[in-house]
Amino acid sequence: MTQQDTILSLKRLQKTFTARRKGKTYAVRAVNDVSLDIRRGETLGIVGETGCGKTTIGRTIIRLTQADGGSAELDGKDIFTTDSRRMRELRLKVRMVFQDPYASLNPRRSIGDSVAETGDIHGVFKNRQDRDDRIAKTLTQVGLDPSFAARFPHQLSGGQRQRVGIARALLPTPELIIADEPVSALDVSIQAQVLNLLADLKEEMGLTLMFISHDLGVVAQISDRVAVMYMGNLVELADGPELFAAPRHPYTQLLIASVPRIDPVKRIAGGIEKGEPPSRFSDVTGCAFHDRCPMASDLCRSTRPELTDAGDGRKVACHHA
Ligand SMILES: Nc1ncnc2c1ncn2[C@@H]1O[C@H](COP(=O)(O)OP(=O)(O)OP(=O)(O)O)[C@@H](O)[C@H]1O
Ligand SMILES: [Mg+2]
Repeated sequence: MTQQDTILSLKRLQKTFTARRKGKTYAVRAVNDVSLDIRRGETLGIVGETGCGKTTIGRTIIRLTQADGGSAELDGKDIFTTDSRRMRELRLKVRMVFQDPYASLNPRRSIGDSVAETGDIHGVFKNRQDRDDRIAKTLTQVGLDPSFAARFPHQLSGGQRQRVGIARALLPTPELIIADEPVSALDVSIQAQVLNLLADLKEEMGLTLMFISHDLGVVAQISDRVAVMYMGNLVELADGPELFAAPRHPYTQLLIASVPRIDPVKRIAGGIEKGEPPSRFSDVTGCAFHDRCPMASDLCRSTRPELTDAGDGRKVACHHA
């Protein structure tokens, strides 16, 4: 396994939603030209304010949302394929863990059946015994007793439900897990346990993790590299420690400055104090951040900066960084 081995490659990924407001139709650029490589075995954090497009990226990769531009490859092969055999393979190899484990579990389905669901759909079990064994093994992997298979979601705590959410993702032995705000709905005391579980599973199973969160403290704790998004754009990408020690993009600087102290145990959420993102209902010319940026120049108002190499594997999309 080399550092440079790319598992997932996004190129100029694009998704625009249409929204209606006061009788008018607007285009919302949820994901605007995002190019990003994820290295095999790493945890890549994706961070940014609410509405910046994090979830849309994840949903696009697992094809819950259809991209309207760009490409995505897993292990060098197209993700946006229509080949049914390949689509089945992708459903098993790339799995998502969702924010709200309660909403994503069917209340009338036993935990065992929920964990086995994707396996059932894709016929991965040899027989009944194999199915039972795989459910028990997966529950054990996420720190739950195999007897949980017979229980129902309402009998579980929030943390236990999220462990089930992780087990659902894990059962088909995926290569890549996209965890979308997996601890945001949990009590602070439970968050660290679930984060540790994800980190341990990643190591033990040789997984790659894409970790989506608006919470800088949590992202700092778990990520090897961090991608910062602003209004659909990827603005900075760097190794976690370097990004937090010396942010280069003015937006990353603002994001980090607005967190008094990065302490994931005490959990200080990364809220932005200074200014608000411009309305998503107007098209922005130039850099999306220009009207909040202290360094903005005419160039920033007219021309959108491309994400470019800034040395040491860091990438920044800023005319003045
Ligand atoms: N199905 C949809 N229809 C219309 N607009 C949508 C849809 N899904 C997302 N959007 C819009 O796209 C933008 C990006 O949304 P997205 O959910 O990807 O953001 P996010 O970064 O995950 O935010 P959060 O931190 O709140 O989860 C937002 O402006 C959102 O309102
Ligand atoms: Mg989201």
